[in-house]
Amino acid sequence: MSEPLRLGIAGLGTVGTGVVKIVRQKAKLLAARSGRPVVITAVSARTRDKDRGVNLGDYAWEDDPVKLATRDDVDVFIELMGGSDGPAKAATEAALAAGKDVVTANKAMLAHHGQALAEAAEEAGRVIRFEAAVAGGIPVIKALTEGLSGNDITRVMGVMNGTCNYILTRMQNADLSYEEAFAEADGLGYLEADPELDVGGIDAGHKLSLLSSIAFGTQVNFDGVELEGIGSVTIEDIHQAADMGFKIKLLGVAQMTGRGLEQRMSPCLVPDDHPLGQLEGGTNMVVIEGDQVEQVVLRGPGAGEGPTASAVMGDVMDIARGIRVSTFGVPAPALEAARPAKGALPAPYYLRMTLADKPGALAKVATVLGEAGISIDRMRQYGHEDTSAPVLIVTHRTSRAALDEALGAMAQLDVLESQPVALRIERV
Ligand code: NDP
Ligand code: HSE
Repeated sequence: MSEPLRLGIAGLGTVGTGVVKIVRQKAKLLAARSGRPVVITAVSARTRDKDRGVNLGDYAWEDDPVKLATRDDVDVFIELMGGSDGPAKAATEAALAAGKDVVTANKAMLAHHGQALAEAAEEAGRVIRFEAAVAGGIPVIKALTEGLSGNDITRVMGVMNGTCNYILTRMQNADLSYEEAFAEADGLGYLEADPELDVGGIDAGHKLSLLSSIAFGTQVNFDGVELEGIGSVTIEDIHQAADMGFKIKLLGVAQMTGRGLEQRMSPCLVPDDHPLGQLEGGTNMVVIEGDQVEQVVLRGPGAGEGPTASAVMGDVMDIARGIRVSTFGVPAPALEAARPAKGALPAPYYLRMTLADKPGALAKVATVLGEAGISIDRMRQYGHEDTSAPVLIVTHRTSRAALDEALGAMAQLDVLESQPVALRIERV
């Protein structure tokens, strides 16, 4: 059998301990599949004497992840500490400079520094693999860079933050308010240390920016992702959307348009009979559309010890087998600078507002929409509360700019009793 592949793991939290368990428990299977032993030689974390539920006694310990990354007995540096900068980035750069391949689950680091790190890796003749960084256990990076590489990718979309999907699903199924569902997710330990990363759409936006780069051959451009979180989604909108046959999802969409690269992460309505609409709880889904394959739907666990460690090990096994793919599917210098599209392609929108229940109120709203060039597809007044009239409008396809113009004009009317809610209805 060939020389062992020697791993150095920095970060022994949820994902890191999961990787240690797989390497220890499946040593024979990994060696049989890759043709060489896969072994851990050294590990690092902040606190040495913490009980992590795994035996680390066989491995060298480094307090400093940079030292671990450059050890002579490490072939692959596995970065599982997290954070876009700091020790994760320093150790990754050190590993590449020292001639090590890198495997990471760190979407924040790659969303911010992916291009520079990919260039550094390729200059050093090394690879960076990051399957675990996007949609946890779903092998979506491999699907895009390898299995679908004969396609022109036309669109990538998906639900890529399990915490948000859990919150939205619990609001829908258990009739919880956003605050109640958020508290439940918090109690279950689902939220990131900074919850805004989840509910603000930032974590999912990081993931979308990585998929965009591979799909469209562009440099990672997280700043070009239009971000809107789920904090303003109400139980009222979830119920009204359901009544019309839709579910509300934090949906990421990336597509190359004539006006540039469109990348959006925002709450959208999707049909409830589409797999995206049926996605429950913390599960993730990525939908890839290509000119040859048409549509591929990948569904699976987006987080957690086993699923995320599974993805890390998939990358390790590729390296053990000698499979080497450019970080974002094409050599880093060939990735084009992303030209962000200004505004999304037109779509129908769901509008909900409360009007003063008086003659001409609805007519004024309809006039404002008409003046902005927006045609109404469906409209209904669905109940009365004293002198107020809740109204739902579904528009025909319109640009967000026209809609914003109409919403601005509506705000000037004397008939609105609440700020209108506007949600895009995505074609899926
Ligand atoms: P955890 O917080 O559970 O673990 C982080 C680990 O990194 C800890 O062991 C910690 O040490 C160690 N660490 C932090 N800072 C340092 C440092 N300066 N030097 C050495 N070690 C350090 O994180 P996760 O395992 O959840 O996440 C790891 C990565 O995987 C992140 O990038 C995350 O975004 C990504 N990811 C996580 C998923 C999940 O389900 N958890 C899913 C997909 C991706 P100590 O234990 O001593 O404090
Ligand atoms: N906070 C992330 C989620 C973890 O909820 O999906 C996995 O990246």
